[in-house]
Amino acid sequence: MTAPANTALVDAAPANTQSPNELAAARWSRALMNNFGVPPVELVSGQGAVVIDADGKQYLDLLGGIAVNALGHAHPAVVQAVSEQVATLGHVSNFFTHPTVLALSERLLDIAGLRDGHSDPNGRVLFCNSGAEANEAAFKMARLTGRPRMIAADGAFHGRTMGALALTGQPAKRTPFEPMPGGVEFVPYGDIAALREAVDDTVAAVFLEPIMGEAGVIPAPAGYLAAARQITAEHGALLVIDEVQTGIGRTGNWFAHTSAGIVPDVITLAKGLGGGLPIGAVIGIGAAAALLQPGQHGSTFAGNPVCAAAALAVLSTIESDGLLDHVDGLGKHIASGVEDLAHPLVDHVRGSGLLLGIVLTENISAAANVAARDAGFIINAPAPDVIRLAPPLILTEQQADSFVTALPAILDSALASSKAQKGTP
Ligand SMILES: Cc1ncc(COP(=O)(O)O)c(C=O)c1O
Repeated sequence: MTAPANTALVDAAPANTQSPNELAAARWSRALMNNFGVPPVELVSGQGAVVIDADGKQYLDLLGGIAVNALGHAHPAVVQAVSEQVATLGHVSNFFTHPTVLALSERLLDIAGLRDGHSDPNGRVLFCNSGAEANEAAFKMARLTGRPRMIAADGAFHGRTMGALALTGQPAKRTPFEPMPGGVEFVPYGDIAALREAVDDTVAAVFLEPIMGEAGVIPAPAGYLAAARQITAEHGALLVIDEVQTGIGRTGNWFAHTSAGIVPDVITLAKGLGGGLPIGAVIGIGAAAALLQPGQHGSTFAGNPVCAAAALAVLSTIESDGLLDHVDGLGKHIASGVEDLAHPLVDHVRGSGLLLGIVLTENISAAANVAARDAGFIINAPAPDVIRLAPPLILTEQQADSFVTALPAILDSALASSKAQKGTP
């Protein structure tokens, strides 16, 4: 007796006219939850700032996994550090320590100028696995002050876990998940008077991004972070600076708040720290470093040796290759190159280092995203009139120039396609 043909499988087989990218999209929609929408492109490999998709198309990656791939893709230092670590000790529980996490915590305190015995105030590090978790931990630290209120900024983004979401000043992201953890109030970003008005001795913490990345690369106005430092200090409230997107060299400094000349109480980090591996960190400074007590917080994977090894490789390479200066110079070069195009669709460029927002004169950033992809560039559209660039810190000037040269045609095509979509001439 012959087995009946498995018609279900035959029927489910995708038509062979689909491209590998289309096949991937079809498989995605059958296997993954729809919280991101279906990605149109399957990336299969990368080297430096270049990635290749399933159809064999090559892209210059000007987004770097959203400010994550600090050293680009497959950087030999990360590959070696991760390979050696996983072959030595892949994971330990929090009942033990290991050399890599010790080295990383000391290195982080060094770059923040907070190493015990070398500085006053001293700092202490808490590891976690993502930016949201770093802010979640900072939220819990703020609760431990015993004060009921927290202040964050309209438009801010601090992550998707419930505490981090409660601090996120974008109601559309919060509303479906209400009730939020209580006590968070929002003030307009950059408004010193509003912050002064909001902060009193009942405030546990003020959470601020030095540049609001997800809101459209909006830098803090000059003097805002310094005023926030002064106001929080006057009332004994913590100043938590969210450096998840801006930290680890992204803006040409180890931390973006350094250029404001302030020392916060808490710094949260993730994204670029692991160069592609999932690791986050909270640096507590002075009294804030002693808020969490044994048993109050934890995470199985926090301080994982493989992720810590990747982070150490990222920090050493940024230093040994002089990437902070490179990022500073290249960011300015890109910004002036784009503004010098004097293209009617470009209003101005804002941001710092290699976190740049190209502000457009029309709401066509989504169409520009697609046109850029067609032209072989990965960018993104955090706001309808803003294109964001957050490329690997190892991007070369020649690679950056190739994008600047291609930008006018990308914008023209984006305008044409959005007009066609709206049916306007
Ligand atoms: C400033 C900031 N904080 C927190 C987060 C959340 O980080 P994660 O996605 O790693 O949870 C992000 C992510 O975009 C961010 O930009």
